[in-house]
Amino acid sequence: MTRSSKIISTPIVGLFLFFCCWTNMEKAAAEEENYIKYKDPKQPMNARIKDLMKRMTLAEKIGQMVQLDRENMTAEIVRDYKIGSVISGAGSVPRLKASALDWTNMVNYFQNGSLSSRLGIPIMYGIDAVHGHHNVYKATVFPHNIGLGATRDKELVKKIGIATALEIRATGINYAFAPLLAVCRDPRWGKCYESYSEDPKIVTEMTDIIYGLQGDIPNNVRKGLPFTGGKDKVAACAKQFVGDGGTTNGINENNTVIDWHGLLSIHMPAYDQSIIKGVSTIMVSYSSLNGTKMHANRDLVTDFLKKTLKFRGFVISDWLGIDKITYPPHSNYSYSVFASVQAGIDMVMVPYNYTEFIDTLTDHVNNKRIPMSRINDAVKRILKVKFSMGLFENPWADQTFVNKLGSQAHRDLAREAVRKSLVLLKNGENADSPVLPLPKNTSKILIAGTHANNLGYQCGGWTMTWQGLSGNNHTAGTTILSAIAAAIDPNTEIVYSENPDSEFVQSNNFSYAIVAVGEHPYAETFGDSPNLTIAEPGPNVINNVCGRVKCVVLLVSGRPLVIEPHIRSIDALVAAWLPGTEGHGIADVLFGDYGFTGRLPRTWFKTVDQLPMNVGDPHYDPLYPFGYGLTTNPIESS
Ligand SMILES: *[C@@H]1O[C@H](CO)[C@@H](O)[C@H](O)[C@H]1NC(C)=O
Ligand SMILES: *[C@@H]1O[C@H](CO)[C@@H](O)[C@H](O)[C@H]1NC(C)=O
Ligand SMILES: *[C@@H]1O[C@H](CO)[C@@H](O)[C@H](O)[C@H]1NC(C)=O
Ligand SMILES: *[C@@H]1O[C@H](CO)[C@@H](O)[C@H](O)[C@H]1NC(C)=O
Ligand SMILES: *[C@@H]1O[C@H](CO)[C@@H](O)[C@H](O)[C@H]1NC(C)=O
Ligand SMILES: *[C@@H]1O[C@H](CO)[C@@H](O)[C@H](O)[C@H]1NC(C)=O
Ligand SMILES: *[C@@H]1O[C@H](CO)[C@@H](O)[C@H](O)[C@H]1NC(C)=O
Ligand SMILES: *[C@@H]1O[C@H](CO)[C@@H](O)[C@H](O)[C@H]1NC(C)=O
Ligand SMILES: *[C@@H]1O[C@H](CO)[C@@H](O)[C@H](O)[C@H]1NC(C)=O
Ligand SMILES: *[C@@H]1O[C@H](CO)[C@@H](O)[C@H](O)[C@H]1NC(C)=O
Repeated sequence: MTRSSKIISTPIVGLFLFFCCWTNMEKAAAEEENYIKYKDPKQPMNARIKDLMKRMTLAEKIGQMVQLDRENMTAEIVRDYKIGSVISGAGSVPRLKASALDWTNMVNYFQNGSLSSRLGIPIMYGIDAVHGHHNVYKATVFPHNIGLGATRDKELVKKIGIATALEIRATGINYAFAPLLAVCRDPRWGKCYESYSEDPKIVTEMTDIIYGLQGDIPNNVRKGLPFTGGKDKVAACAKQFVGDGGTTNGINENNTVIDWHGLLSIHMPAYDQSIIKGVSTIMVSYSSLNGTKMHANRDLVTDFLKKTLKFRGFVISDWLGIDKITYPPHSNYSYSVFASVQAGIDMVMVPYNYTEFIDTLTDHVNNKRIPMSRINDAVKRILKVKFSMGLFENPWADQTFVNKLGSQAHRDLAREAVRKSLVLLKNGENADSPVLPLPKNTSKILIAGTHANNLGYQCGGWTMTWQGLSGNNHTAGTTILSAIAAAIDPNTEIVYSENPDSEFVQSNNFSYAIVAVGEHPYAETFGDSPNLTIAEPGPNVINNVCGRVKCVVLLVSGRPLVIEPHIRSIDALVAAWLPGTEGHGIADVLFGDYGFTGRLPRTWFKTVDQLPMNVGDPHYDPLYPFGYGLTTNPIESS
């Protein structure tokens, strides 16, 4: 019974009200009936969460805990199963070379499904964005984290966060799986380039990227609460918790054996800082800690991360991460669901078979193996992030941002990052005979090597696809070769040869040669390497060119490689890491428009049998120590 019918049931009062203000009363009552507290942005966040939780069925709660990939997914599935989040896994794109507008239309399509459900809880749409918005055609691709670690410049990294958030929003997406906070302790690990440094202090400082992605925390937001401010910001995800960079022999997803002191001093500080900086979500690592899978590690996820560190956002699993709790993966899914949710994982990146996950979790709850309080905790955390992002007020992709994708301003920022990331390891035999900077105006130069004219190699893994690509037509950018061509004096003749033989080199009168070699693209697991050699025919190119002509070698790689056998014949050596789409940044420094300033974020070993070897270790005997890097002065322009 509504309040108005109660009142007019008294005849005299009713008659009075009818003539005087019945219509107003009716209107107010109707408003009250339609009033939905959780949809009222003027209500405090906790009141909105409480109101919404009260209205939710078990199915609606479990739906919020589900994250699905867009592949073969429909808006109807999102609506009918009340799915909490949709993602694009690596390479999962609306179509080849999709535009920003295509992306926004796709995100809005799924959002419409979600908003058509009974309670209309908007979805978070997530994507990996570990060096810019790299899944998207024509996005700005920044240097991978190892290069950013070499800059030692956390303000620059924050600006990269701001730019990346804008490019992500340009495609309608509101959630980024970044930053990666692994402290890589062994370069044989294929994800080592995603790590800023072997030094926890550098990794911890670089968590300022969270301010870039999510926005600066206003003073009135309590420390530790998730915070994402504004339509140009995205929810971030610190990953992968915890110890992923410390596995035995750098084997991906393997076991990290470490004591509490080591864990707390090496792998944990960046998470502590991320929580202070308002990070919205944290992703769990595939790896194990002392033999316990992190996806099933209640001590670390619930007791330490949530209780001790007071993380109030939500914890998410990695792609098929709960399946991998058992070996072989998915061999006991019931146990995987039980162990992961009980460990404290709030949202599960399923990412395909939603009915299997939902049925399994529902069964655990109905049979009281998983208490309702655990489900409520998970859902409250997810809603807290959604409310704190302003998602209920602004669920739709804002198409006014589409021109931010790959904008010139962002490319200029990436170019700055490239030139600051380069580490000069050798520059002539001594300080009196520097090779760099190189003259722009000379007769004839040689550009050689597999990596000189290959944008895909320059970007590395996590670019357009998971494991990365070869070639120049997958996205927009500037190769090292075209950057050199643009920088050089028009009088200088450039000869380009990917793999020249020694006679060719000798018979030409080159003033100097620039050789770009390194690793072919890779990402996790596939990139694990026990030998860390330069990819073929790189060593051959060095042998054929260096010693015959003055040569500068650019190593395009995700980590230090075996270089000692070649170092004597090389006149100048530059660690270029994986610079991304803006090759101009390399030419800027080679020719002295800017000086070299980068410093090694990692120890450069002599031989792989020294590994693992990190700064501070006893018996530290590197080829180039952590922090090493020669500098040059920019040439005064006349
Ligand atoms: C999506 O559908 C296509 C066509 O039916 C199928 O080949 C593919 O395996 C499906 N992908 C997934 C992840 O289920
Ligand atoms: C949004 O969802 C409604 C209801 O499910 C549907 O009728 C409508 O066509 C959808 N609109 C778009 C643009 O997808
Ligand atoms: C670590 O790698 C070894 C060798 O491949 C393997 O036997 C072992 O099962 C792995 N451990 C974990 C926890 O994945
Ligand atoms: C891991 O195991 C070692 C002994 O093998 C022990 O010293 C250490 O404390 C354990 N680490 C943690 C985090 O429990
Ligand atoms: C799954 O794991 C649980 C807990 O270890 C065990 O009790 C159960 O028998 C397993 N089920 C299967 C099918 O292996
Ligand atoms: C999803 O899982 C269920 C239950 O294990 C299984 O019957 C079904 O075939 C799976 N669906 C797909 C598309 O793999
Ligand atoms: C480059 O060198 C050539 C030949 O030495 C000279 O003619 C030309 O003026 C130089 N160009 C510039 C821009 O200095
Ligand atoms: C790039 O070029 C290669 C070879 O010409 C072709 O096979 C490939 O489809 C092209 N890729 C794109 C994204 O256009
Ligand atoms: C080689 O080039 C230099 C200028 O870079 C020139 O002085 C010299 O004469 C050239 N030698 C031959 C054999 O062409
Ligand atoms: C080094 O390891 C890589 C990847 O594991 C492999 O492809 C390559 O053949 C190895 N090179 C040598 C010289 O053993």
